[in-house]
Amino acid sequence: MEQSLKPSSQTATEQGHLRVLTASSEAHPLIKTGGLADVAASLPAALRQLGHDARLIIPAYPRATRLLREPKRLCEFKVPGCRANIGIIEGLHPDHELPVYLVDAPEYFCREGNPYTDLSGRDWGDNAERFLLFCRVIALIAKGLPAIGWRPEVLHGNDWQTGLAPALLQEVPERPASVFTIHNLAYQGLFDRATFDRIGLPPSLWSLSGLEFHQRLSFIKGGIVFSDRVNTVSPNYATEVRTPPFGCGLDGLLRQIGDRFSGILNGIDYHLWDPATDAMLLQTYDRERFGLKAENKLELQREFGLPRTEDAFVLGYIGRLVEQKGVDLILSILPELLQDPRIQLILVAAGERRTEEALLDIANRCPRQVGVFIGYDEVKAHRVEAGCDGFLMPSRFEPCGLNQIYSLRYGTPPIVHRTGGLADTVEHCTPQSLADGTATGFLFDEPRPEALLDAIHQALRLYREDPDGWRRLATTGMSLDLSWEASARQYLRLYSEAIGERQQQTDMALA
Ligand code: GLC
Repeated sequence: MEQSLKPSSQTATEQGHLRVLTASSEAHPLIKTGGLADVAASLPAALRQLGHDARLIIPAYPRATRLLREPKRLCEFKVPGCRANIGIIEGLHPDHELPVYLVDAPEYFCREGNPYTDLSGRDWGDNAERFLLFCRVIALIAKGLPAIGWRPEVLHGNDWQTGLAPALLQEVPERPASVFTIHNLAYQGLFDRATFDRIGLPPSLWSLSGLEFHQRLSFIKGGIVFSDRVNTVSPNYATEVRTPPFGCGLDGLLRQIGDRFSGILNGIDYHLWDPATDAMLLQTYDRERFGLKAENKLELQREFGLPRTEDAFVLGYIGRLVEQKGVDLILSILPELLQDPRIQLILVAAGERRTEEALLDIANRCPRQVGVFIGYDEVKAHRVEAGCDGFLMPSRFEPCGLNQIYSLRYGTPPIVHRTGGLADTVEHCTPQSLADGTATGFLFDEPRPEALLDAIHQALRLYREDPDGWRRLATTGMSLDLSWEASARQYLRLYSEAIGERQQQTDMALA
């Protein structure tokens, strides 16, 4: 039965069967460079669990094509600006009963490696063309492509790579309601004017109230300006980005759109990230059998070539090496931190060449205390979350952050800068909060080396001097509910609001 698009669809979202198309340039495990991939797979899966008809669309990168289950080529068509035919492959997500559409355009997406950069780390020269094409296909499906026989009531775009889809749809009467999620405002998809002229977007979109941003073409503005609702991935980051220090030049626009903009905290996939069942671990454990966690520490030390000793205080880091993540803060405190021979540090990281080299260098000089893996490796990530004692996340800004949530779940208290989603998910340990049973980690206020060092020392003191307190801290984090269900319900409310807004526009157009 067709769902009504009326504001009364409040009930439609409650009854289930809302049709949602999630558009993203990555989705785990089909393709992943960061947290966006985790969210893009687990939110639609959670919506399906709640009875809704969520589907996912991503580009047909080679790995995605290889991993898709039951692939079926649905149709081929031409798209403006593209010589070759574009195809749609339909299949199922590898881990969930989630329908996935792959946009098959080999000339654009059939490249091994990173979706955004070539092997030397430079952006692909045709990124504007590639993601415009992606957005054109998203827009076609959003309007209803006969060969697919399914049309969403809500288009949910994520990050700049999908930002032009609502811009392309703005004058299409049969367009669905649209929601746009910002996972990181620092990545905006900016291109020069010549690119705008070359790629064939409607000239009317070059305006202050359109895609123009300081004389450049901004993909992310398309999502912010033309969507019915816009959100980011934590309430605190939603507040921060309305201010100049965090707004990356878009704070004015985000203030201007008022209530259309909000923050919803990400959840995590409790099936993939569960220390009680995680097959990637040598030893599973839970709150009651917290002592077993130590087996994972010994195994991790072995894997990273460090002396195997339970007595060490092992800190972990997982993430991209970019300024945002504050790894330079870790590097600058290491000389002092490592003076304590019982401290070890394990990093799984990749990114800026200079930082990679600095990390490898320190691992060479301190082989008994520092272990480094350069690259992203899902299995190692799980083992670091489980095997370390504490987890470092000194990000200068952090829209949500997922690794600190994984570390809470794995009983590895996070040590984090009080910013963005880190501040929303970690409760600072004081004698009071520990006694109340609310403490889950350590927060420091300024992204400065001394502040990070001080927070690590606070953690170390508790770990060494009060093992029961440490256990309480760790197991409190393990018992939090940060699964997707609550967040998915908040997205459903946002979808209802977007549908209501869309309906009002339609009514006004008809009046
Ligand atoms: C981006 C953000 C990160 C967030 C993730 C998923 O990677 O930097 O903070 O957790 O997206 O929303």
